[in-house]
Amino acid sequence: MSDDIIGIGLESSCDETSASVVKNGNTILSNYVSSQIDLHKEYYGVVPEIASRAHLERINELIELSLKDAGIRFADLSYVAATIRPGLVGSLLIALQSAKAISYTCSIPLIGVNHLEAHLYAPHLENNTLYFPYIGLLVSGGNTALFNVEGIGHYTILGRTVDDAAGEAYDKVSKYLDLGYPGGPIIEKLANKSLSKPKLFSKLMTDKDDLRFSYSGLKTAVIHYMQKNPISVKEDVAYSFQETALELLVRRVFEAARKFSIKRIIVAGGVAANGRLREILSENKISGEEIVIPSPLLCTDNAAMVAGLGYHYFIKGMVDNLSIDVSARS
Ligand code: KG4
Repeated sequence: MSDDIIGIGLESSCDETSASVVKNGNTILSNYVSSQIDLHKEYYGVVPEIASRAHLERINELIELSLKDAGIRFADLSYVAATIRPGLVGSLLIALQSAKAISYTCSIPLIGVNHLEAHLYAPHLENNTLYFPYIGLLVSGGNTALFNVEGIGHYTILGRTVDDAAGEAYDKVSKYLDLGYPGGPIIEKLANKSLSKPKLFSKLMTDKDDLRFSYSGLKTAVIHYMQKNPISVKEDVAYSFQETALELLVRRVFEAARKFSIKRIIVAGGVAANGRLREILSENKISGEEIVIPSPLLCTDNAAMVAGLGYHYFIKGMVDNLSIDVSARS
């Protein structure tokens, strides 16, 4: 008999439905992610009601596919993990209720997972030698926060955004410029086409603001600039917006690394898929910091990170009962 521990993870906190089977917390056997972008793009953002319904329609099929692709049956599972917070309540409930059904019918432990912690775990799925501690930057459409991660389940939040998340700023600026949704990849592509690479917006926040972030001022600055200069080149506006937005992320990451004398930095969440962010991070290394960024599929919402993190709770016996609930907050 094999000593392998195989678990299934389910994720539905926002606009991606995902099911994944992971072995021993670090080997992905399958990872199905179904994006709802096409359903939400006409609204330039996620519509909670549409999101929950779409999760409900897709989750059973994704569970079946993930088991089939992993070459296993329900009877081979040792645990089921689901994201329970933070996120859209109606959406979170879909993964959790499915996980409860699997837990009950297969008589296996249920593990509720924090979405932010799961994102910070994502790089472990590709790197078996990723040692603690590290500075973790989580930067997505719903979150922008910096952590000191000392171990699984042991992390301190060092700072977070006081208003919009960085991905949210990308999405809002894209909406204002009428470019499409989600804004991140569209703005990144457009910014790459800027010929003059101008500096149109001032640096965000100062060192007195500790390790916090703020993005609503930049969004307003873009709007004011466009009102004053309606015939500006959108490529240049996209370029300057992106440089300003990313500069704050990079500045904060290195401030935290130096403050805590930690040389390992991991960046996770949808915005971590940005090529220019990767470039600026490596340009700014001055004392041999190691920068780890998961591959794009593991940067955005996915259930592999949920199943992987769930494994560690399972082996520590930190399991939940069927009465656990979801929460919008972290
Ligand atoms: O982590 P994620 O899939 O979902 C949550 O927000 O939870 O992140 C989605 C966010 C969106 O705001 C999107 O515009 C942004 O990540 N994003 C990017 C890029 N790809 C996705 N932002 C900047 N550059 C990108 N290449």
